[in-house]
Amino acid sequence: MTALPATSDDGAFWDLWLTPYYLPCVTAADELGTFAAISGEALGLDELAARIDVDPRALGVHLALLASLGMVERRDGRWRATAMARTWMHPEAEGYYGPLLGGFRAEQPIHAAMVKSLRPGNGKTGESGHVSFVEEWERGELPVEQARFIAAFMHSHSVANAKAVARLPELAGIPSLLDVGGGSGVFAIEAARTHPGITATIMEIAAMCVAAQDYIARAGMEERVLTTAVDMFREEWPSGHNVHFFSNIFHDWSEKTNQLLAEKSFAALPPGGRIMLHEILMNDDGTGPLIAAAFSMLMLLGTRGRQYSLAELRGILEAAGFVDVEAQRTGGGYYSLVTARKP
Ligand SMILES: C[S@@+](CC[C@H](N)C(=O)[O-])C[C@H]1O[C@@H](n2cnc3c(N)ncnc32)[C@H](O)[C@@H]1O
Repeated sequence: MTALPATSDDGAFWDLWLTPYYLPCVTAADELGTFAAISGEALGLDELAARIDVDPRALGVHLALLASLGMVERRDGRWRATAMARTWMHPEAEGYYGPLLGGFRAEQPIHAAMVKSLRPGNGKTGESGHVSFVEEWERGELPVEQARFIAAFMHSHSVANAKAVARLPELAGIPSLLDVGGGSGVFAIEAARTHPGITATIMEIAAMCVAAQDYIARAGMEERVLTTAVDMFREEWPSGHNVHFFSNIFHDWSEKTNQLLAEKSFAALPPGGRIMLHEILMNDDGTGPLIAAAFSMLMLLGTRGRQYSLAELRGILEAAGFVDVEAQRTGGGYYSLVTARKP
């Protein structure tokens, strides 16, 4: 049996993992009156949010998934129900599908979490009732048992993509990489395994460092994969690393928090140092693609963030002082790597 993987594409698992979010997004829109509000006229995001009394930021995430599912469309910045949704999802339509789709929604906890996520004022908090660790992350403190659970979850979430990223030419020739919020260490381990010249340091909450050390030991990478317990919000970042790698970090936080993270990274990098953001990117008009939109919904329910477009990330990085912002698909599932340089 060969030890080499045949592919880093784990797309089929992502397709499967995110399916529970599709139907409740449509039943939540039905309950809130979204389709009826935009069947007769197209409305801007804020107008629609005011019309159905929901939080605009959360509504943007919901509309992206509805657009990916063929229920709404966005033209010139305004949203309208598609002919499909006008015909079958308008409550007064002869062929109204609401009773069928929503028939078992009382048994669907995700339906309730999605409706809650849209409540005015809730868009910022991520308090939807969905599983979330965001308050512990904000405090920079976790019990070790919880850290072990998150490490196992994130390891299987990220392992295929870590193998794909490690093989990118951008990872070659880096002496020292700081993996900000590196979780189980999966990216640091794969990078160090692939490139014998790299030393990678996982910067994490203290309990996550403990959890990551198990994965580092199992990989036999103790000499070149290190951990450092640093609260990325409150504490000073270590200097001396040529690359700051962030995987699935910006999608956890608001634009404002991400601006702070980009600024802290810029301050700690040497001139010529690079920042790398590993994320699933939204398209520029916020209407998909489907997996990005479904993942963004998961972020809305459990974090303070959402999936961002390249244009949005470029705005944050350039405002912090970075130049040469570029992106490429990594070849692992649905992810992209956004890179930029400190001049
Ligand atoms: C979504 S996980 C990403 C893990 C890993 N980068 C990956 O893609 O598999 C977010 C990570 O950010 C870390 N994190 C959250 N708040 C932090 C803080 N205040 N300081 C340092 N790390 C933090 C969490 O512990 C968690 O491992």
